[in-house]
Amino acid sequence: MKIAFFDTKPYDKNSFDKYSESTGIEFKYYETKLNEDTVYLAHGFDGVCVFVNDTVNSSVIDKLSEMGVKVIALRCAGFNNVDMKYAFGKIHVVRVPAYSPYAVAEHTMALLLTSIRRIHKAYNRSKEFNFSLNGLTGIDLYGKTVGIIGTGKIGKVFVNICRGFGMKILAYDKFPDRSIEDGEIIKYVSIDEIFADSDIISLHCPLNDETYHLIDENAIEKCKKGVIILNTSRGALVDAEALLEGIKSRKIGAACLDVYEEESDLFFEDNSGHIMEDDTLARLISMPNVIVTSHQAFLTEEALENIASTTVNNIVDMLSKGQCANELCYRGGNTEDCKSGKCF
Ligand code: NAI
Repeated sequence: MKIAFFDTKPYDKNSFDKYSESTGIEFKYYETKLNEDTVYLAHGFDGVCVFVNDTVNSSVIDKLSEMGVKVIALRCAGFNNVDMKYAFGKIHVVRVPAYSPYAVAEHTMALLLTSIRRIHKAYNRSKEFNFSLNGLTGIDLYGKTVGIIGTGKIGKVFVNICRGFGMKILAYDKFPDRSIEDGEIIKYVSIDEIFADSDIISLHCPLNDETYHLIDENAIEKCKKGVIILNTSRGALVDAEALLEGIKSRKIGAACLDVYEEESDLFFEDNSGHIMEDDTLARLISMPNVIVTSHQAFLTEEALENIASTTVNNIVDMLSKGQCANELCYRGGNTEDCKSGKCF
């Protein structure tokens, strides 16, 4: 089995290489991302392995299927970068449905605590032996209301973390799981109640046509003054221009972003020697109350190990047995998501 591996980073190679011998999979690692210009690199391979910022549109799918590539193995959970409707019937798409919801939920809390306790500022100050506390006043999380949009695997872990801090939790999900409700501590409400009553809003739903720009000018207008926005899900859930305006007008108190609408050409790479062309991102990063990490929330040792072992199993299942429990499909598939109609 030969797999063309796109957008490779050193940590990917470390975690995948050890499976080559036991499974017989031969990985060819490419640093470049998969797109219309690089798809020819998959010639002669049985499958491609891709990540969040590879482009798997109709033209890439056509070329892959013409070349006889049988499987697209996503080494991530989200699949908004794949034209699933177009892939249907042409090529199999498999993914890693969960690798560590704890990694993402814990990173979300790390960002929130960094922001509200000004850890990023204090760290820089003490490096210069500046031990002044001026400007470092934070807020307690205890007693605050957090609105959690999307209560799937990651959202539920974040619910529990917030509960541990003594916060009141308002949840919204297209498919609510009422079993997590707990009186006044955790309850499902409408999305407008999330906007109106939350001190902090955290996004844990997938990006799709319904959730694109979920946080836009209109939504921000409905929020409490000083609301803190957390996005560790997908960049385009938030209209970055509207977020910037909300920060400038002081309506938004702080933003913590692990993902950004236009991240695909920037995140995961060292751009420190380049002129930043994206004015919105540059302006957001320049704000004292905005913290940006570059799609790092998943990056724990445990998650990398789960990603590698599940992806390898998915490839072996698909190529040798012709079916895989983690196959994604546009309709009528065999995954839990498909059965519950959640995959689109
Ligand atoms: P999940 O599928 O377990 O949960 C997603 C939840 O969102 C489900 O409960 C679903 O019913 C809900 N949902 C779907 N459409 C919705 C809508 N229109 N409004 C409100 N809720 C809706 O997914 P999981 O594993 O919890 O991941 C959540 C998101 O986190 C992923 O879609 C992905 O974009 C992101 N993610 C980010 C990572 C990072 O490193 N920053 C790593 C892994 C995932």
